[in-house]
Amino acid sequence: MEICESIDNLRMRLKGREEDIVFVPTMGNIHEGHLSLIEIGKKHGKFIVCSIFINPLQFDDVEDFRTYPRTIYSDIEKLSDAEVNVLFLPSEEVLFPQPQVFFVVPPDNLSKILEGYFRKDFFIGVTTIVLKLLQCARPKVAVFGKKDFQQALILEKMCSQFQIPTEIILGETVREDDGLAVSSRNSKLSKTERVDSAYLYKVMEEAVFNILALHDESALNKAEIAKIESSSMNKLFLKGWKPEYFAVRVKSNLEKPFKTEGQKVIVDDLIILTAAWIGVNRLIDNLEIGSKSSTKI
Ligand code: PAJ
Repeated sequence: MEICESIDNLRMRLKGREEDIVFVPTMGNIHEGHLSLIEIGKKHGKFIVCSIFINPLQFDDVEDFRTYPRTIYSDIEKLSDAEVNVLFLPSEEVLFPQPQVFFVVPPDNLSKILEGYFRKDFFIGVTTIVLKLLQCARPKVAVFGKKDFQQALILEKMCSQFQIPTEIILGETVREDDGLAVSSRNSKLSKTERVDSAYLYKVMEEAVFNILALHDESALNKAEIAKIESSSMNKLFLKGWKPEYFAVRVKSNLEKPFKTEGQKVIVDDLIILTAAWIGVNRLIDNLEIGSKSSTKI
């Protein structure tokens, strides 16, 4: 695996490979979730480019940025073992030679809700950096995880609307045996928090079960969905979590189902999205309804 720290070097290394390039951007602390995206990527092209860059634009909390896990040596080993061809490892000076004054601004209806409601300008930070990274690597295919479903949806729509010639592929969420979605932030959990953290997935599974049961009885409607959302929030509260949102949405646009009177809702088009604090750590997760949406490790 070659490591490229500059954009010139990266572009030189990628010359002549244009048709084969598959790109997997990350913020490092490489785990099974990232590695699964690399494996998916290998089905779409022969030359795998991964990036590690902890993007300051997408952190609204200095402390969160400061304490984000940085494990570059073991990351390099893992990516090399995964037979990644090139690791793009830019510094802040490389990606921001001048202070960034142009930004990609995603539409409010997608970016100011759910994650975007609780993390100010988060999606501006994500779309701006991903556009920059795509400009650096110019891949044929880029792979993102459904673990960050809202992010993946926004990036897909950004690439489509800017006619970016990169096909976006989404990978299923990789989970631990107890259901916890693998995440760089999991390493910050204490031993007991790690055990308790599986509850988030359990509450989502229960909500899916209840939604499917109501659907079978033709009783799924706006009020029932609101009840499921609030009872799920309550379950988390009662176990000492601080949930920020637990929302049932339409997968394709993240709108609330049954937005208008009499609107037909297909249960397979729905997804549950949630974010909750366990102690000082914030976990986000989601579960698609009516389809298998996770890979256990
Ligand atoms: P990061 O959190 O490092 O995640 C990199 C990619 O891995 C994202 O596409 C994310 O959705 C995916 N991923 C994370 N956990 C996963 C899991 N358990 N299963 C499958 N995929 C998983 O997301 C980012 O970095 C940044 O916002 C980035 C897109 C790199 C822009 O800075």
